[in-house]
Amino acid sequence: MSPDPELRTLRLTLRQWRADDREPFARMNADRRVRLYFPGALTREESDGLADTQEASFAERGFGFWAVELRESGAFIGFIGLGVPSIEAHFTPCVEIGWRLMPEVWNQGYATEGARASAAFGFERLALTEIVALTAVANAPSRRVMEKLGMTHDPADDFDHPRIEPGHPLRRHVLYRLQSRQHVA
Ligand SMILES: CC(C)(COP(=O)(O)OP(=O)(O)OC[C@H]1O[C@@H](n2cnc3c(N)ncnc32)[C@H](O)[C@@H]1OP(=O)(O)O)[C@@H](O)C(=O)NCCC(=O)NCCS
Repeated sequence: MSPDPELRTLRLTLRQWRADDREPFARMNADRRVRLYFPGALTREESDGLADTQEASFAERGFGFWAVELRESGAFIGFIGLGVPSIEAHFTPCVEIGWRLMPEVWNQGYATEGARASAAFGFERLALTEIVALTAVANAPSRRVMEKLGMTHDPADDFDHPRIEPGHPLRRHVLYRLQSRQHVA
């Protein structure tokens, strides 16, 4: 397999990270709308660290969260991809799918489009048998993306996020699962 996989969908390119992604990525990670379902905004340093983590993940594992750009304009709009959660929980170790996009492009189906290609990559190229997704219970847009991907939610899988303090409204999380046999290429 190529060490630097890239994916193309009808409207998106999921590509490797470039130095000039860092500024718009940091802007997105500092935006309160984007961080509504996370405990806080990211500093520039934290945002750069998150991009570093994705680059290291591709180098080590051959997958990660890709930088996403619109094919039409070449604009960077966020990240989508596959990762390995660093928390310990009843469903780990596992491979997760995730997404975070600039508010200017929300509700046009981009997260679902990029995630579909990412899941297909996971099942077909990485031969995964299951991909999970997790988010705060209240994150309706993200849960909707999970549903549109055909992922299933069993309330028995709900869990308290170990990095979010007890009593915090975002602590309770849902887990969605997608099995390779559910995936239709
Ligand atoms: C989650 C996120 C990536 C979705 O991106 P997107 O490109 O807008 O996703 P899509 O357009 O593919 O689908 C969004 C769906 O959520 C729905 N939606 C949006 N706001 C909603 C709300 N407040 N309540 C319920 N559904 C909502 C949309 O209507 C759409 O569903 P539909 O196609 O059935 O109409 C984007 O909202 C985001 O970046 N959020 C901030 C970061 C984040 O929370 N990431 C996920 C962490 S797990």
